Amino acid sequence: MDPGFDPDRPDGDAADPRERDANDPLAEFRERFDVPGELYLDGNSLGPVSDAAERSLQRALEEWRELGIEAWTEADRPWFRYGESLGDDLASLVGADGDEVVVANSTTVNIHTLVGTFLDARDGRPPGILVNELDFPTDHYAIRSQLRQRGYDPDEHLHVVESRDGRTIAEDDVVAALEDREVGIVFMPSVLYRSGQLLDIERITDAAHEHGALAGFDLAHSVGVVPHELSAHGVDFAVWCSYKYLNAGPGAIAGLYVSERHFGERPALAGWWGHEKETQFELRERFTPADSAGAWQIGTVPVLSAAPLAGSLELVREAGIDRIREKSLALTATLIRLVDETLEAYGCTVGTPRAPDARGGHVAIEHPEAERVSEALRERGVVVDFRPPNVVRVCPAPLYTGFVDVHEFAARLRDVLETGAHEDVDPDGSVS
Ligand SMILES: Cc1ncc(COP(=O)(O)O)c(C=O)c1O
Repeated sequence: MDPGFDPDRPDGDAADPRERDANDPLAEFRERFDVPGELYLDGNSLGPVSDAAERSLQRALEEWRELGIEAWTEADRPWFRYGESLGDDLASLVGADGDEVVVANSTTVNIHTLVGTFLDARDGRPPGILVNELDFPTDHYAIRSQLRQRGYDPDEHLHVVESRDGRTIAEDDVVAALEDREVGIVFMPSVLYRSGQLLDIERITDAAHEHGALAGFDLAHSVGVVPHELSAHGVDFAVWCSYKYLNAGPGAIAGLYVSERHFGERPALAGWWGHEKETQFELRERFTPADSAGAWQIGTVPVLSAAPLAGSLELVREAGIDRIREKSLALTATLIRLVDETLEAYGCTVGTPRAPDARGGHVAIEHPEAERVSEALRERGVVVDFRPPNVVRVCPAPLYTGFVDVHEFAARLRDVLETGAHEDVDPDGSVS
């Protein structure tokens, strides 16, 4: 089945999907992944394993086996500087210098330590932190706890930009909030986890700076699929995870960026792994932070949860982030068109902004029965996410998803809705 296929369509988007796959310069990456199931469209929750990630994990295991403790200095990529070394590899994906990026901790822990750091280093800035109501909850949990630990009432000092439509955040409202409220730090996502809206990082950063505030971002839903220019845009700090578009595996080590302007600040959660490397093993009584983003590491780098990232980054860099973004936009444009043309009649609407520069890598399809629809899709071999209250989140990740896959997804979704298969799914998720 090939819904929405229309060779006469002038926007060029409707070329035969088989032809588009055949002409896709990234198509060959598909066979370098083990993609589970029939149609895996959930790579913005957990990316699949690649041959490269498996090899780099295997290499770390072999080094552990053969070198034991010597691997800290003698491994192919010495473990002592593993976090910094992977940071170097990542830097071009986020538009930063190598020493501004390190892999460490988890995303939530990185929010704790970075927000805490800049609450401590207020330098005349008010303690207020500006977020938005559509953020992934962990961001608010961490920020509230950092405020509370410093004696600030989060209900008073966490300022929340509201959404006008329940899906998106207007950058104008972020700017207006900066004018109205006492804000010392703006902390926003690059891409909203539910609707997939891509926010304008440069504009938000400029506005924050004009109001004397710092700008930090959670790039969990964009790193590896949207190119970034953090240094050029003057961003102060950022965090992200590696298990989504970077395909580094469940619970993989996270990443962080700190602008070189802030090197030397005292990390809120200090630990010996963030110590100046040259003297770390002098085991001094007092902490001297590394003069780099490496200072925000805390404890020993978890080598086995970082090793797959080494391989998976090779693939992303080989594919090229600009080509990945180009294909991602083409895939999501196709998906949006198919929803408009063939699925609207069944109650589906697109909840993701249509402008390419306001779209991340996934598409939110809204349907009143989204939870049961997602479950029925899983029953048909299609892995997607349900996000309450009404979103089926669909991620055609460019390294292993093709245009035929997107058409096949639309066909299977139409089949679910046409046959009412979702009505047989119990509200608790089981299929009766
Ligand atoms: C925007 C965002 N931030 C943070 C996280 C999770 O952070 P952690 O890796 O610490 O669980 C997620 C997880 O999906 C997320 O979507």
